[in-house]
Amino acid sequence: MKIILQSILFCLFITQSTAGQPAKLPYKNATLPIEERINDLLSRMTIEEKAGQLNQVSGGAFTGPALNDPGQKSKMEDVRTGRMGSFLNVSGVVETKAIQKIAVEESRLGIPLLFAMDVIHGYKTIFPVPLAEACSWDLKLMENSCSIAAKEAAAAGLHWTFAPMVDVSDDARWGRVVEGAGEDPWFGALVAAARVRGFQGKTFDDAHILSTVKHFAGYGAVQSGREYNYVDMSRQRLWNAYLPPYQAAVEAGAASVMNGFNTFEGIPVSAQPYLVGEVLKKKWGFKGILVSDWASFDEMMSWGYVANQKDATEKAMNAGSMIDMESRAVVKYLPELVKEGKVSIQHVDDAVRRILRIKFQLGLFEKPYGYSDEAREKSRIFTAEHRMQAKETAKRSVVLLKNQNNVLPIAAGSKKIALFGSHANSGQSALDFWSGAGDARQLSTLESGLREDFPTMTYAKGFQDNGASDPSLIKEALEMAKQADVLVIQVGISGALAGEDRSVAFPVIGENQLELVRALRTTGKPIVALITGGRPLVLTQLEPMVDAMLQCWLLGTETGHGVAEVLTGRYNPSAKTVMSFPYAVGQIPISYRVFNTGRPLPPAGGDSTWKSRYRDIPNDPLYPFGYGLSYTRFEYGTPSLNAPTMKPNGSVEVTVPVTNSGSREGEEVVQLYIRDHVSSIVRPVKELKGFRKVSLKAGETQTVRFTVTAKELAFLNAEGDPVLEPGKFSLFVGPNSKQTQELKLEVNP
Ligand code: NOJ
Repeated sequence: MKIILQSILFCLFITQSTAGQPAKLPYKNATLPIEERINDLLSRMTIEEKAGQLNQVSGGAFTGPALNDPGQKSKMEDVRTGRMGSFLNVSGVVETKAIQKIAVEESRLGIPLLFAMDVIHGYKTIFPVPLAEACSWDLKLMENSCSIAAKEAAAAGLHWTFAPMVDVSDDARWGRVVEGAGEDPWFGALVAAARVRGFQGKTFDDAHILSTVKHFAGYGAVQSGREYNYVDMSRQRLWNAYLPPYQAAVEAGAASVMNGFNTFEGIPVSAQPYLVGEVLKKKWGFKGILVSDWASFDEMMSWGYVANQKDATEKAMNAGSMIDMESRAVVKYLPELVKEGKVSIQHVDDAVRRILRIKFQLGLFEKPYGYSDEAREKSRIFTAEHRMQAKETAKRSVVLLKNQNNVLPIAAGSKKIALFGSHANSGQSALDFWSGAGDARQLSTLESGLREDFPTMTYAKGFQDNGASDPSLIKEALEMAKQADVLVIQVGISGALAGEDRSVAFPVIGENQLELVRALRTTGKPIVALITGGRPLVLTQLEPMVDAMLQCWLLGTETGHGVAEVLTGRYNPSAKTVMSFPYAVGQIPISYRVFNTGRPLPPAGGDSTWKSRYRDIPNDPLYPFGYGLSYTRFEYGTPSLNAPTMKPNGSVEVTVPVTNSGSREGEEVVQLYIRDHVSSIVRPVKELKGFRKVSLKAGETQTVRFTVTAKELAFLNAEGDPVLEPGKFSLFVGPNSKQTQELKLEVNP
């Protein structure tokens, strides 16, 4: 009986070629157009298999070839029965190959799996965290680091990364600012597109991986900076301040988008019809795949938006969602929801079609193990070239915040340095949660990196990691300081406090670290602070006590070497911060994109009563967006406009001479901001709309040019359409968002 059944099935599955040889099923025939193959495959799939394509689970604890791991048996059974479309957190050639084999060789239709992972700033060669890299204002550099990350990941069996994270945020309490490009939506859009280009390349091939724009949408605005919290804002604010980077990434061709954990307009975004249906699919015409965040379908129950998993599946699907990451709800309830007519088969088919299309485009039906190649895994990962690129990126991500009396640079070997800081000799604390397969033991720490240039350097911890005051460590540090010419102190926080689920109420320098600095100050020796962490910290107490400050963020594999380049002056720092450094915790969230209010402070000082201000601190941050110093000096001449007026369809040109008046070559990020003085929606007092990173030799002057058109001057209305209203505008040019020179422009109808 079994044999007869198998024969019938066999006959149903193949067609005979004219020569009498079994012909390939159309979906397996690589000579046919992809859409034809998809149609054929879809027509053969049961609703259960379709739901399976929308199911994604975490490989989690695979330790050996997955097949032999008894704990993973049920997942393998799901693969075998076509109830799994993709995995996350499975990587490595051995593992991915073993699991793919089950899908391809043992499941009824042999549909290959996708393997995804959070390759955020490197797979094994770890680059600076995205926030740090963004401070380089070097889009090519960011594109390059993503492309190296992709190259390594693709050699480890991966097809897909959950990056870039493009959530705009101005809230240093939120741990996930580390993953983004800072507080500015216009700049964030450029970075988002660059990162998509880097991960994906021009074509799908085994040196690239699919990118994912996340977290759609508005996650960076979580209330009070508290992780997983709600978001509530007007559509007009959403469009102008939060959506531009997602849109830019979608336009750059991002293959996938991930929902956030937050709500928008009172609805968890995984089931948000406006965001998913109207904006992403209709307005932007997104053709790729949408994946939920980890169990975010399930979490709609905790939000109090749905009563049970079935309800969650119905709401998410009807809003336009597709892949269910880790809720395991869709695979369970979608078939019955379709049978009951509660979810349309058209939506399911559309979602499955998109996933299959990607699998076909990646060539997985022809070469299911194409990304799992032992030789490539050995030769492409953690190469000397990749480490060199990581070092280049690291040095370009370090922001010089202060340099009193030119304490920096310190030429290699020229001074006796005493280094302090409990994270300075730890590879682990330089890595954040999203450090892929990065290995802390192979990381150049601040201590090991600096020692190569300063062999006589001494090191002591100076403070306890847990924040506790420890007089014995201070005593030891003071003894050591006596023997040194310069004191270099790592302060700040470790990678363990950066990223998801790392919200803090006090993004500050710990009191025990300030205690150490106070004590060392008594020696009268110059102090250089190396500030670590994945977010801007309040540096107001630290700043007056030290001579120089380098914001080092978390720089990855080449941390020590990268910082050494800057400290010794072999590289002249050129990074500028993409998040404001708050003056005090009470200012947070803080961005340069503030509104004038009805009661602005008088710009030139004067009577400030009954004005929009704090009574105890200034309104301004300690360091504004766009701020960063160099070892040389840049002087801005008077900017000019080629015409005082323009038509809405016209353009004007802004020019500004910039001179390197110091004694060494350097790079400067020249910035352009705009202001719309009277508008039908109130607009920020400054909005970044241009920048140029120029390299100037000592004594050289360059005229930097910007073209301003309607695109730079318009705002987006609540439907996301650009609107340019004639009237008065200001254009500002300068080295950061605060120190700018103003030009007046009139847009005539
Ligand atoms: C949750 C995070 O929010 C998201 O960014 C990540 O991609 C997924 N987990 C998968 O690890």
